[in-house]
Amino acid sequence: VAAEKDGYPHFMLKEIHEQPTALRNTLKDRIEGDRVNLDYLNLSPEYLKGLRNISIVACGTAYHAGLIGKELIEGLLRIPVEVSVASEFRYRNPLVDEKTLVIVVSQSGETADTLAALRESKRRGAKVLAITNVKGSSVAREADFMFHTVAGPEIAVASTKAYTTQLLGFYLITLYFGQLLGKEMPKELYSGLKELPVLAEKVINETEKRIESLIKPFEGWGDCFFIGRSLDWHVAEEGALKLKEISYIHAEAYAAGELKHGTLALIEKDIPVIALATQLEVYEKTISNIKEVKAREGYVIALVQEGDTETAKSVDQVLEIPKVPSLLTPILTVLPLQLISYYVAVARGCDVDKPRNLAKSVTVE
Ligand code: G6P
Repeated sequence: VAAEKDGYPHFMLKEIHEQPTALRNTLKDRIEGDRVNLDYLNLSPEYLKGLRNISIVACGTAYHAGLIGKELIEGLLRIPVEVSVASEFRYRNPLVDEKTLVIVVSQSGETADTLAALRESKRRGAKVLAITNVKGSSVAREADFMFHTVAGPEIAVASTKAYTTQLLGFYLITLYFGQLLGKEMPKELYSGLKELPVLAEKVINETEKRIESLIKPFEGWGDCFFIGRSLDWHVAEEGALKLKEISYIHAEAYAAGELKHGTLALIEKDIPVIALATQLEVYEKTISNIKEVKAREGYVIALVQEGDTETAKSVDQVLEIPKVPSLLTPILTVLPLQLISYYVAVARGCDVDKPRNLAKSVTVE
């Protein structure tokens, strides 16, 4: 119904634009100054201290949020984390018992494989924390603890605002666990998180202003690549999934340093490559990978942090995201990738909200 789309041609575009609000609503009342407050979870420091490992389980886009979750938890809490797609987890005798916290991530809370993984985890004695967008869902009801992503209903099959709020959930949960464990958490993350809604709005607007030139390189192509290192790599994976789902362009995400072990063979003149170079710790390395692509005449669109004048010299187009701590970039870098996918799909005449063969919520195995 046109009215429900608030004047947007598709739910997906509406939901992309709702992200600043979704982030604001998910943050609300959960950060007080330099403290995250998730006391309602009722998790004791003793329980957390007794954990041997954390296992994150999800499907699709929610799985990609889990990949970032692992980096945050291992990086800041030094607890070993495994991330699994739910359809694999349940059949592979995972390392899960009463000393494991299983975090299941699901927008709908009804995905059959994720729900089965939750049940299998409980059967093995683990406690389950659900990150979900639907409060009364099966996953929410069966989990021991629940973090609600306050994104509002997500209608488009391709997930956007659920992903960014799931990421936000992982930041808040990690900081909160850190506090409970008495670990020093980086102060800049607290203020940085609060700024994200405003910065997200800025990135969305800036990207849309330039969208025509950003989607032009995809014209006539059936393939494309997304590259990045560290967190950028995981966002690249989500970017590639988005493009595949709705535009039917074959997209592959690669850890930039791994290109030379195969994918570089596929780089040819003018093939679109989206390169994320926002992780300052591996910046130089990423730039040298971008140069490898340019040497084969690929068409490179780079995403960089504001103030980076170096990358522009080696690539075809640059899109800047505002300066934030490296750990916080995923919520911003994914936004241009969502918009590029959306506008490429529209240009190709695809049914953006209901792509062929896919469903919003997969309740069968
Ligand atoms: C389907 C959707 C994806 C989604 C996945 C997991 O495949 O098309 O967009 O990421 O299910 O859904 P969930 O509701 O569990 O997050």
